[in-house]
Amino acid sequence: MSEKLDKNRTILLRKRHVGPSCKIFFSHDPLKIVKAKGQYMYDEKGQRYLDCINNVAHVGHCHPDVVKAGAEQQLRVRWWARARRRNQREPADSLKPPLGKKATFLALCYLSGLSYSEANDLALRLARHFTGHRDVITLDNAYHGHVSSLIDISPYKHHQLPDAERNPYVHVAPSPDVYRGKYRADHPDAATAYADEVRDIIDRAHERGGKIAAFIAESLQSCGGQVVPPVGYFQQVAAHVRRAGGVVIADEVQVGFGRVGSHFWAFQLQGDDFVPDIVTMGKPMGNGHPLSCVVATPEVAEAFASCGMEYFNTFGGNPVSCAIGLAVLDVMEKEDLQGNAARVGRHLTRLLAEQKQKHPLIGDVSVLLKGRGLFVGVELVKDRVTLAPATAEAQEVINRLKEEKILLSADGPHRNVLKFKPPLCFTAQDADLAVEKIDLVLTGASPAPFAQSLSDTS
Ligand SMILES: Cc1ncc(COP(=O)(O)O)c(C=O)c1O
Repeated sequence: MSEKLDKNRTILLRKRHVGPSCKIFFSHDPLKIVKAKGQYMYDEKGQRYLDCINNVAHVGHCHPDVVKAGAEQQLRVRWWARARRRNQREPADSLKPPLGKKATFLALCYLSGLSYSEANDLALRLARHFTGHRDVITLDNAYHGHVSSLIDISPYKHHQLPDAERNPYVHVAPSPDVYRGKYRADHPDAATAYADEVRDIIDRAHERGGKIAAFIAESLQSCGGQVVPPVGYFQQVAAHVRRAGGVVIADEVQVGFGRVGSHFWAFQLQGDDFVPDIVTMGKPMGNGHPLSCVVATPEVAEAFASCGMEYFNTFGGNPVSCAIGLAVLDVMEKEDLQGNAARVGRHLTRLLAEQKQKHPLIGDVSVLLKGRGLFVGVELVKDRVTLAPATAEAQEVINRLKEEKILLSADGPHRNVLKFKPPLCFTAQDADLAVEKIDLVLTGASPAPFAQSLSDTS
C-alpha cells in the first residue's frame, strides 16, 4: 500500500496525521524507504542507499533466517501458554554464555516486551526495590528512553526542560568523555577523576538526606556522542555506588550483542573485574522486532519478587518475538558477525584516521577515543585546539552524503559527531565506499561551508 502512494502524498498524510514532535530524517527532502535488505535500503524509485545508521537491524535488514523464524513461529503458535513457556526459557538461557565468566552472577532475565524504555523503567524499579533508596545518578548527555521515569534520567532530552520540571532525585555526573569532556586524554588518570565526580555527587546527595538507588549509564554513550569511558572508570564508580548501597545498571540497548567486536557486551571492554548488577538490552536483540530484556543478579531479582507484586507484561516473552531473538543469536554465530564487527571496524577506523590527515574539519576518530568495532564516531570541529564544534558542517555533510546515497547521522550534545553504527553485515567494501564519499564531500564538490571552516582553523 505504502508503495502505491507517491512520496509527496505520503508526506502530506504524515503531516496531517502524525504528531509534529515525531521528527523526520532529512526534513528538507525526506526519503521514502520502501524496502531494505542486508545493509542497504531502497527508496520508492528503487534507488539503493548504504545504511551506516541502523543498529536496530543488527544482523542485516530483513535477514531471511530471522524473517522465517518469526513467520514460522506465528503459524506454529496454537496454544499460547505452552509456546510461551518453552520460548521464554530458551532466549534467556542463550543469553547467559555470552555474558561472560563473571556474569554467571547475572542470572535472571525478564523478557520485558516491546520497548527498550520498558526495560530501563523495569531496571529502575528493580534497583529501588533492592536498595530501598530513591536517588539515581545518570551521565550528562545520556538518553535512556521516552517514558516519564526515563526522560528524568536523560539529560539529552531533559536539558530542554526548565529547572523546576527536573526531578530532584536525579543527579547528573559529567560524561566520561576524554576528548572534549572535563578530563581529557592528557589527564594522568581520567578514569579516577571522572569516578571521583560520582563519589562527590553521592556525598552531596547524602548531605541533603538522599540515598542512592542506582547509577545508570550506557557502556559506551551513543546519543551522548559516541563516548568511550576510560578503562577503570566503571569499576571505581561501582565501588562508590555500592558503598552507598546502590546498584549499577548498564544500558546495552544500543551497544550490546557483539557490536564492539572484541566482546559480546560493551561493558566487558572495562575488563573482567567489572560486572554490573543489572543489564538492559534491546535494539539488536530482535533485529527490528520489538524484544527487550532485563538481566539482574539473583539477589536483585529476589528482592523484587519478595515485594509480592507479580511482574506481568502482556507481550513480554511472546513466542514470536522470542523465536526471532533466538534466530538473531543463531545468525550472529553462523555468520561470525561479532568477528566481522571487529575486522571491518578496524578497517573503517583506519580509513577514517587517514581522512583526518587530509581534512582539518575531522577532530577525532582515534580508535581509543571515539569508537570500538562497528560503533565509531567522527567528531567534526572548526578548530582542533579549541574543539569548537562544527555543527552546521556536520549537518551539511550528512545531507551531501545522502545525495551520494550514503545514510549517516550526526549526534552528540553539539550534533557534530558523525555516527557509524551500521548493521553488522557491513563489509570492508561498504566502509571503502562510505569513506570515499566522505572524502569527496569534505574535499568540497561545492565547498562553501567547508571553505569557511578550513579558514577558521588556519
Ligand atoms: C541507549 C538507549 N536506551 C533506551 C532507549 C529506549 O528505547 P525505546 O525507544 O524502544 O523506548 C533507547 C532508544 O533510542 C536508547 O538509545
